[in-house]
Amino acid sequence: MLGRLEQVGTLDVHREGTDLSHDELCARVRGKQALVSVVTSRVDREVIDAGGDLRVIANVAVGYNNIDVAYARTRGVIVTNTPDVLTDATADLTWALILAITRRVCEGDRLVRAGGWNGWTLDFMLGTQLNGKQLGIVGMGRIGQAVARRAQAFGMSIAFTSRKDISVEGTARLPLDQLLMSSDVVSIHVALSSETRHLIDQRALVRMKRSAYLVNTSRGPVVDEAALAWALRERVISGAALDVYENEPAVHPELLTLENVVLAPHLGSGTAETRTAMADLAASNVIAVLSGKPPLTPVG
Ligand code: DGY
Repeated sequence: MLGRLEQVGTLDVHREGTDLSHDELCARVRGKQALVSVVTSRVDREVIDAGGDLRVIANVAVGYNNIDVAYARTRGVIVTNTPDVLTDATADLTWALILAITRRVCEGDRLVRAGGWNGWTLDFMLGTQLNGKQLGIVGMGRIGQAVARRAQAFGMSIAFTSRKDISVEGTARLPLDQLLMSSDVVSIHVALSSETRHLIDQRALVRMKRSAYLVNTSRGPVVDEAALAWALRERVISGAALDVYENEPAVHPELLTLENVVLAPHLGSGTAETRTAMADLAASNVIAVLSGKPPLTPVG
């Protein structure tokens, strides 16, 4: 990516490993025509104003809740994201989490490492079978549909919610409450917005089956983490698997103490192939805009 960008301009690269503070971002964006941002970069009005010459903000992510897109538009700054290239990686990770929590893989790993395994017994550490159960997909966009396709291999039926009036063969579109009440695994795939913040709160969690599992690979604030910790502690639901958190990299302290939750460190798109494709797409968007061409994947 850097090689391609070097051909169109001078680069100021923040190497990973240290956090770029908001003040530092404001200072370094000054005089730049393009900003390549990641999910941890808060690109708000201050940053957009500081970068007075900005023409494009290329987010290396499909989600863009870290950017004030509406304000960027008023300033004539194009915002782009990286859809499609991360769909399969994120759907795969979702399934890794579904299998890990329903078959107690991480709990078992902890037990073995702690020397607590005393050998095979008939009723030891039993999980839940997926075949014949219902997967509820909240948000049937690209990633939700990729998760649904994989569910066929596990013999699960699919219910989904969607803002759009879509129908997907072999699946049932349900209102959220009905999906929560009837699903054995609920997987979240909505973008973060004012409507979806705390979509899964205490009220939603008590609607789920006691035997059900919640999986979130979308954005942390879609789930009320304190309510989820309560639901897991009180066994209101059986378990959860999370890849994203309300205040990353912080995790609600109670979740860290519970056995019935799998905690992954925001790995959804984290394969070498996918991250390379994301970076390449962001570079292509920058190069297109700076050459006066339409961006490949604009948002907003
Ligand atoms: C995305 O693309 O939105 C992911 O969360 C980044 O890994």
